[in-house]
Amino acid sequence: MINEFVKRRKKLFTQLSDNSISVIFSENDKYRNNDVTFKFRQSSNFFYLTGINDQSIVLILIKENNKCCSVLICNRPNDKDRIWTGQIPSKTSYKSKYKLDKVIYFDQLDKLNINCINNLYFEFKDKERLEELLSSIHQTSSNRYFVNTNYLSSRFNLSNLIFKLRLIKSKHEIQEISKAALISTQAHINLMKTCKAGLKEYEIESDFIRFCMNNRCEQAYPAIVAAGKNGTVLHYTKNNSLLKNNNLLLVDAAAEYNNYASDITRTIPISGKFNDYQKTIYNIVLNAQETAIKSCRVGKTLLKIHDIAVRVIVKGLLEAKLLTGTIENNIKNQKYKKFYMHNTGHWLGLDVHDPCPYILNNKPVRFKAGMVFTVEPGIYISNNQSINKNYHNIAVRIEDDVLITNGEPVVLSRNVPKSIKDIESLMAHGGK
Ligand code: GLY
Ligand code: MN
Ligand code: MN
Repeated sequence: MINEFVKRRKKLFTQLSDNSISVIFSENDKYRNNDVTFKFRQSSNFFYLTGINDQSIVLILIKENNKCCSVLICNRPNDKDRIWTGQIPSKTSYKSKYKLDKVIYFDQLDKLNINCINNLYFEFKDKERLEELLSSIHQTSSNRYFVNTNYLSSRFNLSNLIFKLRLIKSKHEIQEISKAALISTQAHINLMKTCKAGLKEYEIESDFIRFCMNNRCEQAYPAIVAAGKNGTVLHYTKNNSLLKNNNLLLVDAAAEYNNYASDITRTIPISGKFNDYQKTIYNIVLNAQETAIKSCRVGKTLLKIHDIAVRVIVKGLLEAKLLTGTIENNIKNQKYKKFYMHNTGHWLGLDVHDPCPYILNNKPVRFKAGMVFTVEPGIYISNNQSINKNYHNIAVRIEDDVLITNGEPVVLSRNVPKSIKDIESLMAHGGK
């Protein structure tokens, strides 16, 4: 498994210019408020290259005369850490466990020996940390010829190079995302079985979180558990309202497993049965989602998938008389945005919104085998007076995680029920 991370570093090395150093910082603890930190979450790019989930370390990749060397700089194990947060690993344990060429402590920067460096790669978000580290390195006698960063001829944003590598998922990464999707699937099925009027949104959320935690998963993002009109608020996370019988419940919640995210939304009737108006809207969204997923093939783009979903939604909204005019005019004038105002998908991986590029060389990125993204159309109807009252406050989103292969797309979250029949049947009989 660790070889996976060695391979990634090798791949990155091939993209770096000669006589360069690359500096990648781990995440540091972030303060929630006085003395108290948030639960630690590793920087995804640092994790991608190391597999290490510890804070306050730095990876340096040195490429000199076309030879590559990976160096980790970490804190020396000390009594303070031992007492307060647990002993940190020694440099020998980092070196052997993560197959690094060299590991030194921050008080041993003189062991670095960096020469003839022309190019510097780092994540621009870490500029301040970088300046501080480089100045410490520069002050050590063995690195005095390592020119001050101001004189370095070129500085490059390493983030973009790593984001590009992260675009195609390896077999191992697909397994990790699939595991996250599997745990989310089971948690969604559980909530379909237990959902009933009288519960609070946070009770659904807490069950979801408990199931994930019991299966060694974090939450990939704060859960949206939105009953009735709350579903029309795209980033609703208060999750404190009462579930009522005539309403839908939109749940956008998913697990993160070994730092890999899934991202799943289902919309279910709180009573266990959709009414006719809810059915109409639900089936438009489902049709849009299934049509879009069928088109997820090598060579297509996320933009194209969005266009396909939009067309189905516009057609459905016209049939429901929620839009008037022609399909083409509604698309051209973006009239559908009153009901469908977000994109249809985003890359998925170490981050739920994986920051891989959408445009490369001025062109939308075309799908290749190994790319993973969401397909998540929705319709959100407010209680605007101009809209047929029967549709007010109906909000539906259906979101799945899709893997591109050389053949048909694979829906990693395919086992979460999504047809009206399957949802109603699970809600009616699932608890028994
Ligand atoms: N859960 C965030 C999203 O669907 O993009
Ligand atoms: Mn999403
Ligand atoms: Mn989502």
